[in-house]
Amino acid sequence: MEKNEITVNEPPSPQSSILVPQSSKKPTLVVTTRPNDANPDGDIFGGWLLSQIDIAGQIVATKRAKGSVATVAVKDMLFLQPLFVQDVVSFYCELAKVGKTSIAVSVKVYSDRKLGEGEKNVHVADATFIYVAIEKPGVKREVPAESLG
Ligand SMILES: CC(C)(COP(=O)(O)OP(=O)(O)OC[C@H]1O[C@@H](n2cnc3c(N)ncnc32)[C@H](O)[C@@H]1OP(=O)(O)O)[C@@H](O)C(=O)NCCC(=O)NCCS
Repeated sequence: MEKNEITVNEPPSPQSSILVPQSSKKPTLVVTTRPNDANPDGDIFGGWLLSQIDIAGQIVATKRAKGSVATVAVKDMLFLQPLFVQDVVSFYCELAKVGKTSIAVSVKVYSDRKLGEGEKNVHVADATFIYVAIEKPGVKREVPAESLG
């Protein structure tokens, strides 16, 4: 088997699980990979995926912070499977923790990949990013209380 080739019948393992996300949950972001995002080997550059996760997490953190946030830390970043050009990549975000000024967002990344006649959904990455609510660059503020209505 070629490097990075994935067989459809490959059994899922804890580190390379093939899972279909809950259909009831909507992705925060959906992006298609392009040739410019690829390494010379043909798989997608990890930095591209990191930046897309940051964008997706920031959408959720900004909404909860009711204003601007800055990324302060990448707490966990797990690359489970390679991405390839023309994969349709979906980012599912959840608020993991809200602190005084910080917001942790967990992000699960899945990819719809065309394989011959078929298509499969691959769990490609998990991450937790930490954002801090800011007044302006370099100046933090408290995360406002969650509105009830
Ligand atoms: C964001 C920033 C204003 C925070 O200021 P600070 O004085 O360093 O803030 P603190 O050390 O008090 O941390 C703020 C919050 O982040 C949390 N935090 C900071 N570093 C963390 C880490 N490594 N892991 C988890 N949480 C972290 C703190 O626990 C605190 O949370 P809380 O208020 O909810 O308890 C400042 O660090 C900054 O401007 N950083 C650059 C951000 C940026 O430019 N990001 C984009 C990079 S391209």
